[in-house]
Amino acid sequence: MTETPHAVVTGGAGFLGSHLVDSLLADGYRVTTLDNYGSGRPANLAHVESERFESREHDVRDEFPDFDRVDEVYHMASRASPDDFASHAVEIALTNSEGTRNAIECALAHDATLLLASTSEVYGDPEVHPQHEEYNGNVNVRGPRAPYDESKRFGEALAVAYDQQYDVEVRTVRIFNTYGPRMRPDDGRVIPNFLSQALRGDDLTVYGDGTQTRSFCYVDDLIAGIRAVVAADRDVAGGDVFNLGNTEEGTILELAKAVLDVVDTESEITHEPLPQDDPEVRRPDISKATGALEWEPSVGLADGLERTVAAFEESE
Ligand SMILES: NC(=O)c1ccc[n+]([C@@H]2O[C@H](COP(=O)([O-])OP(=O)(O)OC[C@H]3O[C@@H](n4cnc5c(N)ncnc54)[C@H](O)[C@@H]3O)[C@@H](O)[C@H]2O)c1
Repeated sequence: MTETPHAVVTGGAGFLGSHLVDSLLADGYRVTTLDNYGSGRPANLAHVESERFESREHDVRDEFPDFDRVDEVYHMASRASPDDFASHAVEIALTNSEGTRNAIECALAHDATLLLASTSEVYGDPEVHPQHEEYNGNVNVRGPRAPYDESKRFGEALAVAYDQQYDVEVRTVRIFNTYGPRMRPDDGRVIPNFLSQALRGDDLTVYGDGTQTRSFCYVDDLIAGIRAVVAADRDVAGGDVFNLGNTEEGTILELAKAVLDVVDTESEITHEPLPQDDPEVRRPDISKATGALEWEPSVGLADGLERTVAAFEESE
């Protein structure tokens, strides 16, 4: 009889982490979450009743607890909202460096596979569009987003270093904007911002003229992508990096209008100055992932927004 595989999910009480936990439990895994509840919420996991699940309060900047066995480590822990980049700059920088080191050490100790959650922010304000994995990015090392962007870049470099020196199996995903149920309404990222403004009847705040573009991926598609990267054979995905996201690109102004279409509201659109280093364009080239893995995103923006609005309304 084969033993139940054990997955450790850092940041498991967060938006993406909690959906990942659901997916792993549904597939029969034993799952342990490590979270300091900084930006995540125990409520995101309150629905879980499985005996195969354990949540632990733990800061990943500290050495991981001892485990009897670990098969997969999903390193999702990190605040990800631009609203936190200044107020939690050091915490973010260390979570993505020391925390990533601890996650890799855990994988090394147990001969486990590590999934590293990186970000499209490693491309900075890109001069190449759409962004493919070979593009090295345009990041301002001293800018306001640097604690997040540069620590994610360092985390990737550290993973490559461990792979080269100790042969640790690290697979990296660069996640592009993802949204869905369980995002905090006050999270500070654009979709929860717009949705909560619309639901309150407040005007939607668009930074700049709103012509900057983004591509938004629905959470179920993203989680399916992460699972496909980890499930792939070593010769397909071992030690490699994959962009994951949705290629449907639109302006922020179009997004605001799409939100006004799905929420019954009197809200209108207002403009505020664009923050420094805000990327002008953002769209993933996902051909590497769709070519190598059995994965492609399938939920369109209108459909995904409707599902997210329904969840936001329910949780009010
Ligand atoms: N959602 C996106 O669009 C997106 C895009 C790119 C990358 N990512 C990455 O995906 C991961 C998850 O993001 P999310 O959107 O779910 O954000 P989130 O804030 O909802 O989740 C992050 C989780 O990590 C926990 N955490 C933060 N620092 C920690 C620490 N030092 N120790 C233990 N736990 C800690 C938080 O409490 C939270 O539960 C992050 O690594 C983020 O950088 C997300």
